[in-house]
Amino acid sequence: LDVTEIFEGISFPGHLHTLESLQFAISFPFQDQDILIVSYPKSGTTWVQEMVTLICSRGDPSLTQSVPNWARAPWLEHYYCASVLGAASLRSSLHFRNPKDVVVSFYHFHKMANFLPEAETFEEFLKKFLMGTLSYGSWFDHVKGWTCQTATLENLLHLTYEEMKQTTYKTNIIKVSSFLQHPLLEEEVNNCVQHCSFSSMKNNNMVNYTLVSDHIMDHSKGCFMRKGKTGDWKNLFTEEQNHYFNDFFKSNMQDCALDFVWEVQDEEE
Ligand code: A3P
Repeated sequence: LDVTEIFEGISFPGHLHTLESLQFAISFPFQDQDILIVSYPKSGTTWVQEMVTLICSRGDPSLTQSVPNWARAPWLEHYYCASVLGAASLRSSLHFRNPKDVVVSFYHFHKMANFLPEAETFEEFLKKFLMGTLSYGSWFDHVKGWTCQTATLENLLHLTYEEMKQTTYKTNIIKVSSFLQHPLLEEEVNNCVQHCSFSSMKNNNMVNYTLVSDHIMDHSKGCFMRKGKTGDWKNLFTEEQNHYFNDFFKSNMQDCALDFVWEVQDEEE
């Protein structure tokens, strides 16, 4: 399973992608009604997919409880191809998460996902994350690539996992539904909230990846809906790794226009 496909200098798990599928993604013919969710792995993509599907279904969970998320919100591997957003008048959300929590979540995911290379020590994994040699490339290039030309676009919503965690699920649904120009009745908002909470998603086998066989994702080694919190990096990073990471972040992201706030207090479910 662990076969790597290199496309434009970035490695992708060959079990999920072929050169043809990656080429297809690059030239995908978007239409105005399309909604694009842009994120690096482990940033809360599945959560936003669930929110958007529920909003478009006016809070009715029949779709989210009967069709696996990958079949109703398919992935296109566009990594840092920001021109896509400027060229199309489709609605897009750009979604970021504290890269320290991303690398920790990705590390745990590598342990269970047999289609990704074996996870070594966290120290080794962290080095590869910073060098951009993990599958799906560099978080830093991804964020800079998607933000550099997009600051003034009106059809674009910037979200961070941290902003979403420090506010209520209800506020998040209202924000995303207004952006999508898809206003909902209060009862419909409440239904969306109920079905996209961490606990509901953890128990929904259409979205928690338990439908995927153990051969591909070994569920005895972890679960996809793992913790769903901010700040879990503090349980794995050493003080030295933290200093190194902070320096690396500062020198690599100084030309990034966005001002990220990563340290927040999570709202309880
Ligand atoms: P953790 O591993 O830190 O728990 P992605 O979908 O981009 O791969 O991101 C997966 C991460 O998002 C996992 O993080 C997962 O638990 C978290 N997540 C998924 N649904 C969530 C929700 N409804 N609320 C909060 N976090 C959620």
